[in-house]
Amino acid sequence: MRITSALVDPALLDLPWSTPLEEWPADHLVALPQGISRHVVRFVRLAGTVYAVKETGERVAEREYDLLRSLERIDFPAVEAVAIVADRQTDDGEPLDPVLITRHLQFSLPYRALFSHTLRPETMTRLLDALAALIVRMHLTGFFWGDCSLSNTLFRRDAGAFAAYLVDAETGALHSRLSNGQRSEDLEIARVNIFGEALDLQAAGLLHESIDPEVVCEEVVTRYERLWHEITYEQQIPREARHDIEGRIRRLNELGFDVAEVAMSMVDNGGGYLVRPKVVDAGYHTRRLLRLTGLDAEENQARRLLNDLDTYRAESDLTDEQQAAHRWLTEVFEPVVRAVPAHLRKKLEPAELFVQIIEHRWRLSEQAGRDVGLAPAVQSFLADVLVHRPDEQAVLGVEVPTG
Ligand SMILES: Nc1ncnc2c1ncn2[C@@H]1O[C@H](COP(=O)(O)OP(=O)(O)OP(=O)(O)O)[C@@H](O)[C@H]1O
Ligand SMILES: [Mg+2]
Repeated sequence: MRITSALVDPALLDLPWSTPLEEWPADHLVALPQGISRHVVRFVRLAGTVYAVKETGERVAEREYDLLRSLERIDFPAVEAVAIVADRQTDDGEPLDPVLITRHLQFSLPYRALFSHTLRPETMTRLLDALAALIVRMHLTGFFWGDCSLSNTLFRRDAGAFAAYLVDAETGALHSRLSNGQRSEDLEIARVNIFGEALDLQAAGLLHESIDPEVVCEEVVTRYERLWHEITYEQQIPREARHDIEGRIRRLNELGFDVAEVAMSMVDNGGGYLVRPKVVDAGYHTRRLLRLTGLDAEENQARRLLNDLDTYRAESDLTDEQQAAHRWLTEVFEPVVRAVPAHLRKKLEPAELFVQIIEHRWRLSEQAGRDVGLAPAVQSFLADVLVHRPDEQAVLGVEVPTG
């Protein structure tokens, strides 16, 4: 047995590598929902960390490992590669396939675990939005996926929307940039895969009757095109309307994209400019929140938390942003998170919990016709809402339909 890894957790060495993954004894495994896959995938818990173990071909494992590592270096939302275990054999000397080990993405769910009975149109819309944004972000970095599908994506809750993560990089390739042809090819693959997945759901009676698989798969392409255009289009701006450039940058920030520089060239004999922003990265609000508070949240969560922070700053008359952020963190955010009893902590991650509590407070206040205040809203959320939710950190004991 041979292990390739950046940092080996010695406990990994003790797993039953001479047994085919399919036959691993239950005491090593955790039952978590998983998407449809060709390969055998199992989850194991070692010293508090959950890993996904996938049995696959040697070349494939190496390729996927390398790609996931490169994606990690550019901070791309994907699962984290931990190790490859190769040269496995049974006790009788029969060779076994190598495995790729990734870290289980906490609080993430495969799309089939996101709905209990049928996939409703609103949920579908949000999934497609998250997926389209993931592909745009991917293409901006020069990554060709080659197998985009709902099954190859993991979703985390993000303040009423979803944030998508790449889980299966087997067919991917990282280029310095993608041609339009490569982008369309990738989208065509996405379209075909999603069509198939929607048909599958329909055949199993899991798709809401108003959803048409053919429309759904077109939607993801349309959403992608719209977002791609907004980010990359070249805009002609008259000389006297230079502030339009700022408007464009703000719109891009609102969409969650950071702009590093704006390329401008003169046109019309100096009467105007041709403007093309250089978008460096998604996660604008995520990064601002991280910088101010050290909290790591998804994009929409970060947007809501920053709104709360801005309101707090205005109310408490603090001019210094950094100081306000520190006080908000210790006097508002942390006490709310600490108010959750230990047995309820696995239900939602802290940022999502906080966002849902702010919304709960708003709803209660609407009903009451006055602001009910944060502390009562927290108590009501814990007692009336959170207790009824399933654990999402590791969805155990919940029945999840799998392929
Ligand atoms: N790190 C992880 N965290 C959470 N879930 C994971 C992780 N790795 C794999 N999974 C789950 O296992 C499923 C299968 O993984 P993956 O798509 O890599 O397998 P595959 O056999 O290569 O798929 P395909 O049939 O598309 O080739 C995923 O849909 C996901 O639900
Ligand atoms: Mg897959």
